[in-house]
Amino acid sequence: MNLCVLASGRGSNLNSIINFQKKGKIRSKVALVISNNSSSNALNIARKNQIPAVHLSQKKFDSGPGFVNAFLEILQKHQIELIVLAGYMKMVPPEVISVFKNRIINIHPALIPSFCGQGFYGMKVHEAVIESGVKLTGVTVHFVDEAYDHGPIILQTPVKVKDDDTPESLQKRVLKSEHRSLPEAIKLLESKKFTVVGRKVVFN
Ligand code: GRF
Repeated sequence: MNLCVLASGRGSNLNSIINFQKKGKIRSKVALVISNNSSSNALNIARKNQIPAVHLSQKKFDSGPGFVNAFLEILQKHQIELIVLAGYMKMVPPEVISVFKNRIINIHPALIPSFCGQGFYGMKVHEAVIESGVKLTGVTVHFVDEAYDHGPIILQTPVKVKDDDTPESLQKRVLKSEHRSLPEAIKLLESKKFTVVGRKVVFN
């Protein structure tokens, strides 16, 4: 599958997907990286790996259909089959979601439906996990629909919360798990047939 990775910041999940690809652990190929943030490290990682890197921001367009059209055009140009949100801090336009139905995935650093939705991003997720006293958190990879962190779940990986964890130490362990979980979800989608029944992904 030709992948487009959307990222806004550090890009460590993008890096992990590229490494899995280089080692032949996934068949898919990152064919395009898009960021809303021109100084995102994800764009640097893409360029270093000779992957087309595009800065695409709604701010550069007026309120008409220009942004969505540019978005769809670049995806089409690179024959993208699966869009991977890896730390993308913007909502994907509904028009793109509808064209790519069940072909956009997102990674969230907690076990959905806990600690997710608007306002739960970055360190805030891990702070809330520790504050709540839960003993288990983890990683969720899910399809993207119109609501934040809401679409059908593809895969979840648990991570134990230790008594002496700080948000920072927990984030480090969860991120390590993310770096395996996201390529694993891509592999599932490339190798298995699946159907989405309501909010449930069923692999056959
Ligand atoms: C990850 O924790 C991911 O789960 C969340 O944003 C973070 C992105 O990290 N959606 P990176 O940019 O891939 O390093």
